[in-house]
Amino acid sequence: MHLKSYVTAALYGLPALAHAAPSAASYSQPSTPSPSSSASEDHFREYTIKAENITAKVIPYGARLTSVLVPDRDGNVQDVVVGYDDPKYYLHDSQTNRTFFGATVGRYANRIKNGTFSIDGNTYHIPENENGGQDTLHGGFIGYDMRNWTVTSYSDSSVTFTLLDQGFENFPGDVISHATFSVSTEKSAENPRGLPQLTTKLVSLALTEKTPIMLANHIYWNLNAFKNSDVLKDTSLQLPLSERFVGADSIEIPTGELLDVDTAYEGALDFRQPKLIGKDIEKTTDLCGDDCTGYDTCWLVDRPAAYAAANSVVPSLRATSEKTGITLDVATNQAALQIYTCNGQNGTIATKESQAKRNKAQDGDSGATHINKYGCFVIETEDWIDGINQPQWGRDQYQIFGPDDGPVVNFATYQFGTF
Ligand SMILES: *[C@@H]1O[C@H](CO)[C@@H](O)[C@H](O)[C@H]1NC(C)=O
Ligand SMILES: *[C@@H]1O[C@H](CO)[C@@H](O)[C@H](O)[C@H]1NC(C)=O
Ligand SMILES: *[C@@H]1O[C@H](CO)[C@@H](O)[C@H](O)[C@H]1NC(C)=O
Ligand SMILES: *[C@@H]1O[C@H](CO)[C@@H](O)[C@H](O)[C@H]1NC(C)=O
Ligand SMILES: *[C@@H]1O[C@H](CO)[C@@H](O)[C@H](O)[C@H]1NC(C)=O
Repeated sequence: MHLKSYVTAALYGLPALAHAAPSAASYSQPSTPSPSSSASEDHFREYTIKAENITAKVIPYGARLTSVLVPDRDGNVQDVVVGYDDPKYYLHDSQTNRTFFGATVGRYANRIKNGTFSIDGNTYHIPENENGGQDTLHGGFIGYDMRNWTVTSYSDSSVTFTLLDQGFENFPGDVISHATFSVSTEKSAENPRGLPQLTTKLVSLALTEKTPIMLANHIYWNLNAFKNSDVLKDTSLQLPLSERFVGADSIEIPTGELLDVDTAYEGALDFRQPKLIGKDIEKTTDLCGDDCTGYDTCWLVDRPAAYAAANSVVPSLRATSEKTGITLDVATNQAALQIYTCNGQNGTIATKESQAKRNKAQDGDSGATHINKYGCFVIETEDWIDGINQPQWGRDQYQIFGPDDGPVVNFATYQFGTF
């Protein structure tokens, strides 16, 4: 597996390691359209990347994707990524709701039971930032989503952010990570129609000690572009390979059980064939925690023989919106998909004004002005969550890395089409 990681990382390249200084001040920024005066503004500077029929925006704060514009079935452009128009608002979000909108999360995505894990007989304890101290979520009180990453490479179609994490939040040792976002419409074996495609690459190296590493992109999608009040009745999801999911307790910590999608919760998690997100959602009571109805679940990507090699990139998710006709196909080298259906949203966060204006111009109606419950969905490509506390799963080789190991690579492509 490490050999494979080396190969993958060699292919994708490790940009500008030499320039990956933690301080933005010591690094001269690449030329960008909007000159900025202070280093703190740089953290929120928008970098726009473009290819035919796809425009995306990212910011250094949280190595964050803030917008993706793609055409719908009528050729009208829609923003399918949930977030804020004003990049500075992500700081306010971190200080209040901490939604993780569009962020890169790490050093270890999702929850770590009791903020505790062991490596080679040593027990480590990191700050628990959730559920009254019962677990660590997305890296702790100050996760990678709140760090100011350094821009180490920038072109018209690609941006790379770099972060040197020196034992932050009490994780053992130093880790350097690169988060790359790129867009293209080039035809290839993986993209035969030359569809607009976003590619995300998270490449990390453990530098000094053995440590858990599991970065993930935390992108909230809404393929109906908030033309509907939620995604329940217009958005279909398909997880063609996912036969099992990770069972979790009343605060969403894995119990160690792996459940079958065809039997658990009356088949509500069976998305092997396309199904409206809302079709069986009422059957999920307690799935996303005590008294919570909705999906917030880690589905395994059960690889068919052709993709048996760990780390090979496999098409593993398709989502489509009846409202806009926009389709999203996700392929990844990861072994699981965490999908969250915005069960915790309650209409207190406003949708982007830029998209409301588009909706008004296109439909004569601004659409949803706020992000409602079930008003979006998150896809995280990652490994089996809290695998570091479930040794019987045998995931350590994919989650624990040290100075002797090759790069850790989380690779995903997001292709947009219409029907
Ligand atoms: C990132 O930058 C913002 C603005 O400069 C600052 O408020 C924030 O504290 C920084 N984050 C960290 C983790 O240092
Ligand atoms: C770009 O989108 C427009 C509108 O949907 C479509 O007509 C055109 O064929 C697309 N271009 C490519 C290269 O796919
Ligand atoms: C939780 O972590 C603390 C601190 O490491 C430890 O003392 C305690 O035993 C742990 N609790 C459980 C249930 O593992
Ligand atoms: C809505 O969600 C926010 C953020 O989680 C929370 O602070 C607020 O109390 C919630 N409001 C209602 C009415 O539930
Ligand atoms: C959550 O977001 C809303 C909208 O931005 C904001 O009014 C509120 O202060 C934030 N915090 C909480 C705890 O609701």
